Amino acid sequence: MAEFFERRLDEYDRHQLTCIESAPEFYTFTSKCLPALENARILDLGCGTGLELEGYLEDNPTAEITGIDLSPRMLEAAKKKFPGRKLTLITGSYFDVSFPTDVFDAAVSVESLHHFTREEKIPLYARVRAALKASGYFLLTDYYAQSDEEEERFRRELYRLKREQNTEQGELYHYDTPLTAEHEAQALSEAGFSSVEVLGRWGVTYTLKACR
Ligand SMILES: C[S@@+](CC[C@H](N)C(=O)[O-])C[C@H]1O[C@@H](n2cnc3c(N)ncnc32)[C@H](O)[C@@H]1O
Repeated sequence: MAEFFERRLDEYDRHQLTCIESAPEFYTFTSKCLPALENARILDLGCGTGLELEGYLEDNPTAEITGIDLSPRMLEAAKKKFPGRKLTLITGSYFDVSFPTDVFDAAVSVESLHHFTREEKIPLYARVRAALKASGYFLLTDYYAQSDEEEERFRRELYRLKREQNTEQGELYHYDTPLTAEHEAQALSEAGFSSVEVLGRWGVTYTLKACR
């Protein structure tokens, strides 16, 4: 999957901001929903080039960001974008990287988790929850299937492609399989989050807020 994004790196920010409906609005909205605290500690899952961090780091220059991404080149671009900011950038999968416990004021993920199934997400979300302080929350801005039938269609197509291409089970495969927002909220609740609400919506993209 890292190669997929790296091939598009030069065009990546422009593509995200101009080809996805309301992207400038939801990136700004997400960054404004992050905590405006001195030295806030933020965990970003699939941070890429850090589009969701641009407005936030401008307004909150003391924030400490831990960003995880599969792509070293996306992370290199993020590092160049935010000189002098407190960034810890980790190349790897957020399914494999271990998180410290009780330390983050917020976690965020934008346009990354629609690649994964509910079964994969629940244990990940439980680990994200454990990484948050008691007052912490997880902001998830992503696109969602618009019906159970659509969600099921995406999932069946992924299994068909995996069979066709003989992909090993568990291997990261780049095909979008968004859940419905309702099923995403259920997965967050099953992972132990105490409340989940929709903070914003732009067409098929929603921002969900899950409180620890
Ligand atoms: C569409 S980009 C979004 C990047 C950034 N959050 C944004 O909105 O511009 C998806 C990112 O998720 C990363 N990604 C996908 N699966 C991942 C995983 N399992 N662990 C870490 N990063 C992952 C990809 O490498 C890519 O940079």
